[in-house]
Amino acid sequence: QLYAQAQYLLSAPSLKECPEDTGWEVAFAGRSNAGKSSALNCLTSARLARTSKTPGRTQLINFFSLDEQRRLVDLPGYGYAKVPEAMRRQWGEQLGRYILERQALRGFVLLMDIRHPLTDYDWQLIQVAHQRDLCLLVLLTKSDKLKRGPAKNQLLAVQQQLEEEGIAAQVALFSSLKSEGCAPVWRWLDQQLEV
Ligand code: GTP
Ligand code: MG
Repeated sequence: QLYAQAQYLLSAPSLKECPEDTGWEVAFAGRSNAGKSSALNCLTSARLARTSKTPGRTQLINFFSLDEQRRLVDLPGYGYAKVPEAMRRQWGEQLGRYILERQALRGFVLLMDIRHPLTDYDWQLIQVAHQRDLCLLVLLTKSDKLKRGPAKNQLLAVQQQLEEEGIAAQVALFSSLKSEGCAPVWRWLDQQLEV
């Protein structure tokens, strides 16, 4: 399986240091502490990405290669209050430019804690991805934190809000802790990466 072959490639402090802009890439984005690195580890059954209880752990653009042409990308989390304003603005700019300019980028996974979905920051990224017509997958992470009923309701509410804003996106529940929700993500990734 392609995703189990994932290998750490490199960490880029800025866009200039990214690997050559060829092939296919899917990026994982979301607020600090949303569970991006945990989800990547879960999907690749590896411990590639560093996870942390401290928000703001991932400050670089981390690239993982699946094969010669395909990569998964762990983006720095945003919206972490303790990061100085100037640094936050710089991340925001880098993130925006990566999404708008990166040719290899074929799909965008936006992760949000199921208990705090669709913050202002999330909407900003959704708009940027929408500008580029990127395929969007919204993962409601840490779904183990809610019971099945409330989790389902939250899923429906997020789907409805996106629909109201005219955003075409697939929305799914995900739990790294319980390894739940991987199969639909793999299927979606296969499509974007043309596997
Ligand atoms: P940054 O790199 O800081 O942007 O954070 P991140 O989005 O990569 O989050 P990370 O994966 O490091 O996880 C943050 C915290 O949430 C850690 O304490 C994880 O153990 C916890 N966490 C992640 N996924 C889950 C999950 O599915 N369920 C539960 N209960 N906790 C989770
Ligand atoms: Mg991280």
